[in-house]
Formats: sequence, structure tokens, C-alpha cells
Amino acid sequence: MRGKRAVVTGGAGFIGSNLAEALSIDNEVVIVDDFSTGKLENLKDLVSTGAAKLVKGSVTDLDVLRGIFEGTDFVFHLAAIPSVPRSIVDPISVNEVGIKGTLNVLVAARECSVRKVVFASSSSVYGDTKKLPKREEMECRPISPYALTKLVGEHYCRIFTELYGLKTVSLRYFNVYGPKQDPNSEYAAVVPRFIVCALEGRPFPIHGDGSQTRDFIFVKDAVMANIIAAESTATGVYNIAGGKRTSVLELARTISEAAGSEFRAEFMEPRKGDIKDSYADISKARKDLGFEPSYPLEKGIAETLAWYKTNFQM
Ligand SMILES: NC(=O)c1ccc[n+]([C@@H]2O[C@H](COP(=O)([O-])OP(=O)(O)OC[C@H]3O[C@@H](n4cnc5c(N)ncnc54)[C@H](O)[C@@H]3O)[C@@H](O)[C@H]2O)c1
Repeated sequence: MRGKRAVVTGGAGFIGSNLAEALSIDNEVVIVDDFSTGKLENLKDLVSTGAAKLVKGSVTDLDVLRGIFEGTDFVFHLAAIPSVPRSIVDPISVNEVGIKGTLNVLVAARECSVRKVVFASSSSVYGDTKKLPKREEMECRPISPYALTKLVGEHYCRIFTELYGLKTVSLRYFNVYGPKQDPNSEYAAVVPRFIVCALEGRPFPIHGDGSQTRDFIFVKDAVMANIIAAESTATGVYNIAGGKRTSVLELARTISEAAGSEFRAEFMEPRKGDIKDSYADISKARKDLGFEPSYPLEKGIAETLAWYKTNFQM
């Protein structure tokens, strides 16, 4: 993608800041973020060098979006309160950002004749249905408020395409990991939590017995999926994952080996709202988007670990 104007909502967050960085090489980039979980330090090089413009504001404010979207080619909508446990504790806020925020993005994009909206959805929309691997046409049965907001967001995207001709595509990310993912939040994802434990020589906290499986994808592959999805003619829903099933115990061992640390685990109660197994069929994204993940788990973990060693203060 070159010479385009792109808006990244949630651009101060983990995936959004990696995406904004990649886009800023050849495009005009505007980031909108309310800094609820995002961090200015994720953007330090981008904003200080003028490679991207930053607007502090919320997607729940339609006028903020109207002001930014004028003249924009692509909107990458990643802003959300991205946590299953947080949504169980505080469904109102998660609903407000996830559903009202997404509707606002679509309304403003339509008014400003944006060429395409790329929506960050989630594998959590499938719920705990047993059949694996997950294919896009399978039944969705969300089991948390967070997952429901993503399913509603996907339907809003489809409806705006059908009713108003606004092009949209929804990317169902599985477990994204990589540099800049926050290890410190109460709801931190499993990869940064394990990496910090490995670097600090602490046991890995494992919910349940560790046999639960996830499909991990390195953030650079997720960024690439966003860019090709924006440029393609495809609309609808796509699984974005590595297409490989890894248990949480295998992940812990991979990280511990890469860090050269002794593997020790502390087993805890399973978390409410968490699904048991997650594994994606990515053949639709391969066929329609030309998506091909290029980071096997070991390679992505090595790059992530190197980043934390340099950037994370223990
Ligand atoms: N990381 C994953 O594995 C994963 C998996 C599935 C889906 N997703 C989705 O991808 C997107 C990005 O996730 P992430 O892991 O980078 O999380 P993140 O928390 O690092 O990023 C989310 C960003 O959105 C911002 N934000 C929250 N509410 C906002 C609002 N009202 N207005 C403007 N900005 C707001 C936050 O400040 C943050 O910068 C989210 O939509 C998330 O649901 C992520």
C-alpha cells in the first residue's frame, strides 16, 4: 500500500501500533486512541518524527471520527476493550466501545466515502463449540460479552456493505503475540505473561491443566493480513491465525527453551469465559486474500523475546 491516507483506531495499542508503523513507511497515517490500554511509548518514534498524526479521542464520539475520516482511503478499526475477563466484570463499558464505537466508525466511514473499513474481530465469536478447526461458516455462539460485541461488529460491517455499499472486511484474529504486547495489565495475554516469567525466573501461571489449545499468530503476520485485506476486493469474515494448534503447556516450554530458563509451572483455576480449544482453518484467507503466515511459533517467539529483553524493565 502506497500514497494512501489510513486511519488506525486503537493505534496506540499492541496490534494497532505495529500496523501504524508498517503503514507509515509509505502512507499518511492518523491514529485515534483514548489511551485506555494503549500507550504513548508504543508510538514514540512514529509521532515524534511526524510519521503519523495522533488524535486523542474515543470512537464512542461520532464527531471526533467525522473530523478525522474526511479524505481517508482506509480505516483499520482496532479500538476495543479487548478482554474476555474484563467484559465479564464490566460488560457495559465493553459493550459501549465494542458496539457503539464500531457503529460510529461505520457511520463516519460511510459519510466520508472511505474506500474500505477493516474491522478487528476475534476467534472468540465461535465460542466453545467442539468442532475443529474453526471455519468461517460454522455456527458462532459467543460465551462472553466481549465475544458478542465482536459478532455484532461483524454483522454491522456486513449490513453497511449490503445497505450502503461501504466495503468492509472483518478479520477474526486468533491469539496474536509479539513486540509491544502489554505484560503488566491485569488481563495480560498468555505470551507476554510467560515471557516475563521466563525472564524473571518465576514459574509460569497456567489456568487449568495447560492442555487447552490456542492458534498463535505473530503480529507482523496479522499486520500483513490487514494490509492485504484492505487492498483486496474481498468483503466478509476471515480467520487470521497461524493455522496450527499449540497447547498452553507446549507454548510455555517453547518460551522457556528460547529464554534458556528452567521450566516451572504454577497451576491455577480455569478462567470463566475462556474457551477450551481454538484452532483455525485459514484456507479462506489463503484463497481470497493470498494470506500466508511467515512466522512459525519458534521464530516469532525468538523475535518477541529479543524485543522484551531490550525494552522491558524488570
Ligand atoms: N491481541 C489479540 O490476540 C487479539 C485477538 C483477537 C482480537 N483482537 C482485537 O484486536 C484489536 C487490538 O487488540 P490489541 O491486542 O492490540 O489490544 P490493545 O489493548 O493493545 O489495543 C486496543 C487499543 O484500543 C484503544 N481503545 C480502547 N477503547 C477506545 C476508545 N473508546 N476509543 C479509542 N481507542 C480506544 C486502547 O487504548 C488501545 O490502544 C482489538 O479490537 C481486539 O479486540 C486482538
